[in-house]
Amino acid sequence: MHYDPRRNDHGLPRDPFKALVAPRPIGWISTLDTDGRANLAPYSYFNAVSDHPHLVMFSSMGRKHSWANAEETGEFVCNLATYALREAMNITSAPAPAGESEFELAGLERAPSVVVKPPRVAASPVALECKTVKVQPLFNLEGEEARYTMVIGEVVHIHIDDAIIKDGFVSLAAAEPIARCGYMEYAHVSELFKMARPAT
Ligand SMILES: Cc1cc2nc3c(=O)[nH]c(=O)nc-3n(C[C@H](O)[C@H](O)[C@H](O)COP(=O)(O)O)c2cc1C
Repeated sequence: MHYDPRRNDHGLPRDPFKALVAPRPIGWISTLDTDGRANLAPYSYFNAVSDHPHLVMFSSMGRKHSWANAEETGEFVCNLATYALREAMNITSAPAPAGESEFELAGLERAPSVVVKPPRVAASPVALECKTVKVQPLFNLEGEEARYTMVIGEVVHIHIDDAIIKDGFVSLAAAEPIARCGYMEYAHVSELFKMARPAT
């Protein structure tokens, strides 16, 4: 089959787009609002986009708390969502009122960050402390503003649980990150394979 995504005439019961660009890593974003109240929510329009400097982005449909906080305070933390934390991650996607912390809602302990003020998820094996570099509106071909806005941050401090470092390398299989597929589906990394790049 093939179809025009601008008309979405795929004839399927649900838009398959998110199942086609998958699995997507989940940025589990912790922030503080301007009153210092913690917020936590998962974003799968999330990725690393550069390692010189270390840049990550998440994209928000409308001005949700994570975007507002990251813009207003200039800081956010990306916590790694793992299989063990999947239920807690899901709970934190609930639309909690501003100021009500999803940490408590999901029974998650906070751990202090080093460089930025928002706390990280204590049980998550990886946390990227970020400072907001740019809030980038997105557009379609006609120049009309998209419903999504991209928040880009530079990673200024990194936490890795020593338990997932094996022989000097990060063992993702030990961390078991989860990733978003389409619909209600998720993948979790449990098995990896190696492949060397061709010599140049
Ligand atoms: C796995 C997962 C991924 C999500 N990814 C996104 C996303 O990329 N962008 C978005 O706007 N909402 C996304 N959501 C929904 C938000 O998590 C949800 O709207 C949340 O309430 C936003 O919280 P906040 O207002 O505290 O930032 C996702 C939800 C789940 C469960």
